Amino acid sequence: MKIQYKLWLLLSAVFIITSFTLFIVLSNNFKQHLQSGYETIALNQGNRVLKEVKDTYPDSPIRSVGYLRIANQEFDGRIIMLDQNKRVFADSFSQLKEDTVLELDILKTGIKTGSLFYHTDEYGYVQYTLISFEEQEITGYLLLIEDANQLSNELKALQNWMIRALILALFLFFFISYFVSTWFSKPIKQIISRLKGITPQKRQFSLNYKRRDEIKELIDTIHNMVEELNLYDVRQRQFISTSSHELKTPLTTMHLILENLPYVRENEDTYKEYVQDLSYEVDKMKTMVEQLLQINRLWDKKLEKESITSSELKEHLIQSFQYLLQEKNINLEFKMDSISFQVDRTLFLQGIDNLVSNGIRYSNQNGTVLIILKSNKLNNNIDISIHDQGIGISSNDLSHVFEPFYRSNDATAWNSEGSGLGLFIVKKMIELHKGSIMIESEPNIGTEVRLTIPM
Ligand SMILES: Nc1ncnc2c1ncn2[C@@H]1O[C@H](COP(=O)(O)OP(=O)(O)O)[C@@H](O)[C@H]1O
Ligand SMILES: [Mg+2]
Repeated sequence: MKIQYKLWLLLSAVFIITSFTLFIVLSNNFKQHLQSGYETIALNQGNRVLKEVKDTYPDSPIRSVGYLRIANQEFDGRIIMLDQNKRVFADSFSQLKEDTVLELDILKTGIKTGSLFYHTDEYGYVQYTLISFEEQEITGYLLLIEDANQLSNELKALQNWMIRALILALFLFFFISYFVSTWFSKPIKQIISRLKGITPQKRQFSLNYKRRDEIKELIDTIHNMVEELNLYDVRQRQFISTSSHELKTPLTTMHLILENLPYVRENEDTYKEYVQDLSYEVDKMKTMVEQLLQINRLWDKKLEKESITSSELKEHLIQSFQYLLQEKNINLEFKMDSISFQVDRTLFLQGIDNLVSNGIRYSNQNGTVLIILKSNKLNNNIDISIHDQGIGISSNDLSHVFEPFYRSNDATAWNSEGSGLGLFIVKKMIELHKGSIMIESEPNIGTEVRLTIPM
């Protein structure tokens, strides 16, 4: 069911319930108001009659009847005098015998002075009014019985009037609430139609909406989401284009070498050199393709956390880099708290390998690469830093080193191997672990990479 109709129904239901309650409360109030008016009139009349008839009680019922008859000429109803036991003493109609017991509700309720209204099949609404009095220290009662259909008619007239007003108001309200709910749900309809208009080719979302409320928030959120998707798309396409370009470079070199290979067959040294170059380019391409595959896997990777100890990490690094360290005569130093922590082991080791490999590759001969690992109990983090005394990174390059394929000119000159994907992968790995990475570096002095990973 559409929000518009739901809202419409809800508003109407609330209106109907409210007006129904109001109707009942108002007509009850009015009824009470009318009854108390009728009661006052009857009490006044009764007291006037009492003034005349009182002194005939309790000695002379015959005289009482006479007075009551006279009083009844001005009173449209019946007047009965009752004794202290509420039995008949005198009747203005002279029909009821003395001491008759009347079966009337008002005589059973304990009311001494006041009115009650009943509906009877014979006479419709009837008002009974009882007034107690004392004469010669003996209690007596005056009972007035009169037609109260006038009251009921007044009440009915008012109720009729209210029902008509209510029906009119209901009609008006139906219309108004229809327009209100339409107006209310209009922006939602607009949002849906704009969203349906989004295609992979045309990803745009904008809606002119002035009010400051949740709908505005929704519109802004969708707008930002679409913009972010677009940006993501641009980055993705850029990545593919750069990747293809980077893969094409070694391919072009390989193509050139292969084209020239037949012509240098006679010269054995040159031939060997060409084949070596070819193998170098193939290796480079292989590494790059492997790294690209790794990046692709990182895209929607779910971490599989296992524990790793600092000594395991140390052993792994010494093992992995022993030849490279020997080749450059570089000293690998460790300052590690002996702890164990939870990471995705494969990912984490690949990341650390990338960083240590950078430290070694971009160092001079005989340098030192230092790895520090501390557990930061205060923030529940692991802090790892890798220090080298290598060529460093200029402040210009520093802001780009996490971009895919970015290599500084210094780095390219220093070491032609490398794809510029290493730090990009490390950053993704750290993000997956909800950690952070920072690099500080000074050209020709050295570089420090700091990682923080939550325990
Ligand atoms: N320890 C380091 N010393 C100097 N430069 C570094 C270091 N680590 C990274 N860089 C710079 O950041 C660039 C990107 O590094 P990386 O993503 O690992 O790619 P690659 O090592 O394949 O070039 C490097 O080309 C280099 O310019
Ligand atoms: Mg690298």
